[in-house]
Amino acid sequence: MREAQRYAAANWFRDCYGTDPAGVWHAPGRVNLVGEHTDYNDGFVLPFALAQGVRAAAARCGDGMLELRSRQAPGDSVRVHVESLAPGSVCGWAAYAAGVAWSLLEAGHAIGGARVAIDSDLPQGAGLSSSAAVECATAVALTGLYDAAVPLLELARLAQRAENDFVDMPCGIMDQSASLQCIRGHALLLDCRSLVTAQVPLDVAAAGLELLVLDTRARHEHAGGAYADRRRACEQAADLLGVPALRDVTGLGELDRLDDPALRRRARHVITDNRRVQAMVSLLRAGAVRDAGPLLTQAHRSLRDDFGISWPQADVAVDTAVAAGALGARMMGGGFGGSVIVLVPAGQSASIVTAIGDEFRRRGWPGPDVVPASPEAGAHLMT
Ligand code: GLA
Repeated sequence: MREAQRYAAANWFRDCYGTDPAGVWHAPGRVNLVGEHTDYNDGFVLPFALAQGVRAAAARCGDGMLELRSRQAPGDSVRVHVESLAPGSVCGWAAYAAGVAWSLLEAGHAIGGARVAIDSDLPQGAGLSSSAAVECATAVALTGLYDAAVPLLELARLAQRAENDFVDMPCGIMDQSASLQCIRGHALLLDCRSLVTAQVPLDVAAAGLELLVLDTRARHEHAGGAYADRRRACEQAADLLGVPALRDVTGLGELDRLDDPALRRRARHVITDNRRVQAMVSLLRAGAVRDAGPLLTQAHRSLRDDFGISWPQADVAVDTAVAAGALGARMMGGGFGGSVIVLVPAGQSASIVTAIGDEFRRRGWPGPDVVPASPEAGAHLMT
């Protein structure tokens, strides 16, 4: 699969620019095991990288021009001088790539013009971080082309800055960190305040289990606005509680000081999800992933009832999966559409997927897509 991915991206580059690329860089999408909307609250997350992702085939361009093409949006090419990049100067998918060139330059890294041809096998809007994968593939390509030795942690911050300040989406740092820092066979425990990481072995097959990722195919047009609303609510709750971030609230009892019941629920989700990340890490380290199901289902209830970001297809998928024998399940990502993850005993995935598909069809929804998911490597130059 890797060779075919590299070949397709290099070919796309040749189609676009008529020459060979200097290299093809890959940045993966991610699945988050647990810890949702905790990253911008200085909390904890536990993602792993997928095999699927974004490839950036690229070569230097001596005249300072940045040229961007995407195989998934062939009509949408961008050609802009790197010195003229500014928030608002590039829109659509290309803003994620151009924003990274901008944030690298803003941080003083000596990168210049480049021709970049993007190719992706990540579904968009599925909650698998396709935007961060575009950012991170561009980041490793540009720093690779210009021999700029930027530590991965710093590169994750710069990719996040591209999304926050260039694209104007107030995301946290989970997706970029996962895409850049994950390693094969592991989930990445990230402390989003200190940015300290630990690689936690993740081998569900060894425990006789499978981790299913199902794209519910529901998309929400206003997810960006709702995401920003949740982030503001969390910041307001932290302010009212007199702490720098919700990460610093240790006891649920402290939430009684919040008069607004909605704010109380939002904060409760963040506090309990941070605890679930720690509990999940303990289970994984103890080789007890079989006991992780209830944590997933509790996380789903918390995201649905306290944080208010689930959607009908996710709720039905989770309930149906658990009723059909799954050990646990939850919605994943920013919310309002995208994918669910389901922990199932090996051999039962087909019947559980069928049960969910039947239930979806009964309600007139298209059946979910199964996304193959195993913990793979973070961003790298494909050789
Ligand atoms: C999106 C954001 C992340 C994170 C998740 C929710 O994927 O990009 O920073 O906040 O939502 O956990």
